[in-house]
Amino acid sequence: YVLGVDLGTSAVKVLLVGKEEKAVAAEASREYPLYHDHAGWSEQDPEDWVEATLEAIKEVSASVNDKASIEGISFAGQMHGLVLLDKNQKPLRRAMLWNDTRTTKQCREIEDKVGMKKLLSITKNPALEGFTLPKLLWVKQEEPKVFDQAEAFVLPKDYVRLRLTGDLAMEYSDAAGTLLFDISKKAWSSDICEAVGLSLSLCPPLMASHEEAGVLNADSRKASGLGEVRVFAGGADNACGAVGTGILEEGVVLSSTGTSGVVLAYEADAEKDFEGKVHYFNHGKSDAYYSMGVTLAAGHSFSWFKETFAPDRSFEELLKLAEQSPPGANGLLFTPYISGERTPHADADVRGSFIGMHASHTLGDFTRAVIEGITFSLQETMSMFKDQGKQINKVIATGGGAKSDLWLQIQSDIYNSPVVKLKSEQGPGLGAAMIAAYSLGWYPSLKAAADIFVEETDRFEPDEKRAETYENLFSLYQQVYSATK
Ligand code: XUL
Repeated sequence: YVLGVDLGTSAVKVLLVGKEEKAVAAEASREYPLYHDHAGWSEQDPEDWVEATLEAIKEVSASVNDKASIEGISFAGQMHGLVLLDKNQKPLRRAMLWNDTRTTKQCREIEDKVGMKKLLSITKNPALEGFTLPKLLWVKQEEPKVFDQAEAFVLPKDYVRLRLTGDLAMEYSDAAGTLLFDISKKAWSSDICEAVGLSLSLCPPLMASHEEAGVLNADSRKASGLGEVRVFAGGADNACGAVGTGILEEGVVLSSTGTSGVVLAYEADAEKDFEGKVHYFNHGKSDAYYSMGVTLAAGHSFSWFKETFAPDRSFEELLKLAEQSPPGANGLLFTPYISGERTPHADADVRGSFIGMHASHTLGDFTRAVIEGITFSLQETMSMFKDQGKQINKVIATGGGAKSDLWLQIQSDIYNSPVVKLKSEQGPGLGAAMIAAYSLGWYPSLKAAADIFVEETDRFEPDEKRAETYENLFSLYQQVYSATK
C-alpha cells in the first residue's frame, strides 16, 4: 500500500491505495479550524495539521493488518501558505494561508522593486496577495521581532513532512507558488531575494516531487503505529490534482468546478507567454509544467443562486428546469463575479450581473444562465490556451460541474471540445499516492499509474450549432467585464 495525504484548507484527507486492489482501499479525514482575526486574514495553526494528519494516517492504516505492507507516503497540499521557522524548526507564528489577502501593499512593492517584466520572466507569475513572498515581506514589516528570529520558511505540506521525517525540504511544484523561485532553472532566485531585501538562506533545500524526503521518524511512528515508511516529497494540490486526473500530456485539459473553478493544462516546458494572466507552475511530473486559470466563484455562484432565489428546490430540480431552457437561456446572461474574479481580470472589486432580464424569464432560464455564465468564465482560460496554439483534444471534467449531464454537455458546447468525466474522483490525494507508488517503482511512469487509477466513463461531444451559438454569446460575455467594471 501507499498513503496519499491531501492537506487541504478545511481538512486533511488521507487515502490508502492498494497495489493489488489498484484502487483506493480506505480513506479518513480530520478537520481543523481557520482563523480570521481581521478582515482579509486567514490563518491556521501548523500544529493542528500535524495532529490531524497523524490521526487520519492512524485511522486509515487500522484496516491493514500487516503494517509493513504500507511502503510509502506522499503529500499534496494547499499552496502558498507561509510557515516561518526559528532555529529549532519551530513555527514562529500561525501560518498565513493562500486565501489571506492582507498583502496588497507588499505585492505592489515587489512589482516595483523587481520590475514586472523580470518578475514574469523568472517566476512566470505576477505578485498576487495569496502568494508566499508578499507574506514574508508583511511579517518583516509588521512583525519585525518575529521575523528577526526566522531561519527558514516552508509551505504547509512541507511543514507536515518535516515533522513526520525531521528533514527540511521544499519541492518544485510548491516552490513555484512562492514568487521566489525560478521555475525554468528550478532554483531559488537570488535576483528576486536581493531586490526585495530577503536573505537567500531563508529558502529551504529543493527537490522534485518524486524524490525521497526521508522516513517516518520515531515520534510519528509512535503516533501513527506505522514503521519506517519511506516518505516522498509530493506536490502542490493543483499539481497533484493534475497527476490524479491524468493531465500528464499535451492535449488534455482539466475543468474542475468546486467552490472555485480551475482550468488547468499540461505544459511540456516553461516557454509559453501568457503575460501572467494565467498561473504557470511546475508539475508533479518531472520537468513538466502546467498553466492554470481560476474562476473564483464557480460552484459558489450556483449554491449562492440556489440559496438566495430557490432555497426550497434541490440542485437536481433546478437542473431539470434549466434543461427546459434553450442554449443562451432565452437572452439572459450571467457573470459569476460575485466575489470578484481571478482569471483573466485579477480584480477583487468587480461584481456579478444578470443581463437582459425580461418578464417572461423563468427560474429555469435563470439557472441555465448561471451555469452558462460560470462555464463562460472557465472558457476565458480555455480560449487563452487556444490563442497560444494549444491543441485541446479532450477536457476532463471534475467537481460539481461533472455531476450533471446537462452541465457536462454545456461545457462541451462552450469549450467546443469533447468532455469526459471520471468513474471516481479522488482529487489531489490520489495524485500524491500515485507519486509515492511511482517513486517506489510500482509503475515505470506516472502515466502508467494513471492508466490504472484514472478511469474515464461518460463522454460528451460538442454540437456544431450549439457551439456556434455559444461562441457568439461568449464574445458578448467578454464585453460585460469592461462595461460593468
Ligand atoms: C492556487 C491556489 C489554490 C490553493 C488551494 O494558486 O491558491 O488553488 O492551492 O488549496
